[in-house]
Amino acid sequence: MSDDQRSSLSGNGQTVCVTGAGGYIASWIVKLLLERGYHVRGTSRNLDDPKNAHLRELEGARERLSLRKVDLLNLESLKDAIAGCDGIFHTASPITNDPEEMVSPAVNGTKNVIVAASEAKVKRVVFTSSIGAVYMNPTRGPDVVVDESCWSDLEFCKNTKNWYCYGKTVAELAAWDEAKERGVDLVVVNPVYVLGPLLQPTINISTVHILQYLTGSAKTYANAIQAYVHVKDVALAHILVYETPSASGRYLCGESVLHRGDVVEILAKYFPEYPIPTKVKEDGKPRAKPYKFSNQKLKDLGLQFTPVKQSLYDTVKSLQDKGHLKFPTKQKHSAKL
Ligand SMILES: NC(=O)c1ccc[n+]([C@@H]2O[C@H](COP(=O)([O-])OP(=O)(O)OC[C@H]3O[C@@H](n4cnc5c(N)ncnc54)[C@H](OP(=O)(O)O)[C@@H]3O)[C@@H](O)[C@H]2O)c1
Repeated sequence: MSDDQRSSLSGNGQTVCVTGAGGYIASWIVKLLLERGYHVRGTSRNLDDPKNAHLRELEGARERLSLRKVDLLNLESLKDAIAGCDGIFHTASPITNDPEEMVSPAVNGTKNVIVAASEAKVKRVVFTSSIGAVYMNPTRGPDVVVDESCWSDLEFCKNTKNWYCYGKTVAELAAWDEAKERGVDLVVVNPVYVLGPLLQPTINISTVHILQYLTGSAKTYANAIQAYVHVKDVALAHILVYETPSASGRYLCGESVLHRGDVVEILAKYFPEYPIPTKVKEDGKPRAKPYKFSNQKLKDLGLQFTPVKQSLYDTVKSLQDKGHLKFPTKQKHSAKL
């Protein structure tokens, strides 16, 4: 889909709620919704937090963005924010591996969103789940294509103390159950690791992953693989599944799977001036192989994924622009993409 096609679509005066509006992905969802003419109600637990200031600067924000103080665990505050909305983008979630901070807020917050959605009779709820609710399954064979039919194994998440993936999986399951019981139209987006420009002033967890390779703090890279996607594509995926009446179920949102060795190679090609690691951290295992996955469902809705090189390039440029990454003094110069 071209940018022209994207911007020709319109919110038609609809009002939608975006939870955790000042977050990395949610800020992009708010930006694209405003560009398409939607009225947006963004929620945050703390409206005065400077990390939300950028939202008011977005094009169309003055006329069509209102911010509401909402704690997802406080159902009444959610109901107030959602009343009168046509749709909800539920993106807020703790992102931590602490089981207490992760599981209950993610699960109960999501259930509350569905309850409030049902009372407000919204047309559709789009929930931001994660690849973490899809691929954590040790019994999957190497040739299996990871797609929307895959679910993470809760026992495996528990045993490996991966409380983030556990929490996201239980939250998504709870969303499906609650939506079914209450007759709410729910569609889910499962993004992989998200990269690309930050709109918010603060750094988020997925861009820290790249920052560590540029600051000299990582001396080696892990023998591991990771799937990546551009943040603008993730935001657009949310809006496409909201705007397409026939959209249903889950949508795996990823562009490609890279070994960390590929990541540092791309970074070193475009940004040779930084101390990017060149050696793998030896773990005695053969080089990890990327898993196969399908993003066909989103492609069928018209999404054209940004190549991962561009996502990595945009991430570094944004980290520099926002002051999270110093320009080095070395005489080598960044290459143009
Ligand atoms: N970044 C990735 O690579 C990635 C990949 C797959 C899925 N996801 C999912 O995408 C969503 C957004 O991620 P992000 O990277 O944009 O994260 P982020 O920048 O940290 O934003 C998360 C937002 O959630 C809200 N939040 C955090 N803890 C909360 C809690 N206990 N109760 C209520 N609200 C809370 C925060 O809003 P306030 O503090 O203003 O209330 C925050 O703005 C999450 O659901 C995450 O699981 C992210």
